[in-house]
Amino acid sequence: MHPTDTNGLPTPPKIAVIDLWKSFGGKQVLKGVNLTIWPGESLVIVGGSGAGKSVLLKHLIGLIHPDSGHIIVDGEDLACAEPERCLAIRRKFGMSFQEGALFDSMTVFDNIAFPLRRHTPMSEAEIAQRVRECLALVHLSGVEHKMPAQLSGGMRRRVGFARAIALKPEILLFDEPNTGLDPITAAAIDRVIIEMRDKMPVTMVTITHDMTSAFRIADRLAMLRDGKIVAVAPPEEFRQLPDPYVQGFLAGQPVEEEVA
Ligand SMILES: Nc1ncnc2c1ncn2[C@@H]1O[C@H](COP(=O)(O)OP(=O)(O)OP(=O)(O)O)[C@@H](O)[C@H]1O
Ligand SMILES: [Mg+2]
Repeated sequence: MHPTDTNGLPTPPKIAVIDLWKSFGGKQVLKGVNLTIWPGESLVIVGGSGAGKSVLLKHLIGLIHPDSGHIIVDGEDLACAEPERCLAIRRKFGMSFQEGALFDSMTVFDNIAFPLRRHTPMSEAEIAQRVRECLALVHLSGVEHKMPAQLSGGMRRRVGFARAIALKPEILLFDEPNTGLDPITAAAIDRVIIEMRDKMPVTMVTITHDMTSAFRIADRLAMLRDGKIVAVAPPEEFRQLPDPYVQGFLAGQPVEEEVA
């Protein structure tokens, strides 16, 4: 797939990952990842536990640096950018981490206001307005003054989304948005993700090993295996891929990449 603009000209990628290699303590995790992410798409990366999905996502936002290879965001190479440009590129991203990462000692309001207070000159009144907008987008109006511990797992996850979108990012990264949630709550989270994609001019990259969820939210799916992207396709095409590993995944019997 190579999308074109209204004049039929090729659209440049939002993110291009080129021959990305990364090892930790002698263990080679990423072994030449190549991946193109188009503007406005919802790309879902699937793969076994320990395959390196979170490591790949953290490279996109510059939280982990590659041993070699390139991450190009809107034509700019993260590795070559001056420190101020790096910060500006990072500001294009919002991320909801696998670990959740809400500040437990802060109210929901202060959690979402945190990036706004830190990175913008907005007044408290403007911040309050933006916090309300973000909570409305994730269907959580009215919980501003609660503490994270007073919320259910699904609600905390949505507060994490609200914080990730507070600065109106161009790219949203979700690491396992459904993990640990019951199927009904997981489906509700997927609906919030789809709504965000439809209401915001945003490019989304989501990691999951939940195939039901992957098919619900993906414009394209990519399979990470043995340190490489071994397949990328739109959902219907992905289902038909003959690769036994992909088929194992689809059947709900993923082959583990490693024994933890
Ligand atoms: N900061 C780090 N230091 C050392 N090793 C790391 C680090 N981060 C990740 N790893 C290792 O890299 C490998 C891939 O980890 P990663 O968290 O990306 O897997 P994953 O595909 O996200 O798995 P899961 O589905 O369980 O979340 C693992 O072996 C992990 O131990
Ligand atoms: Mg992970």
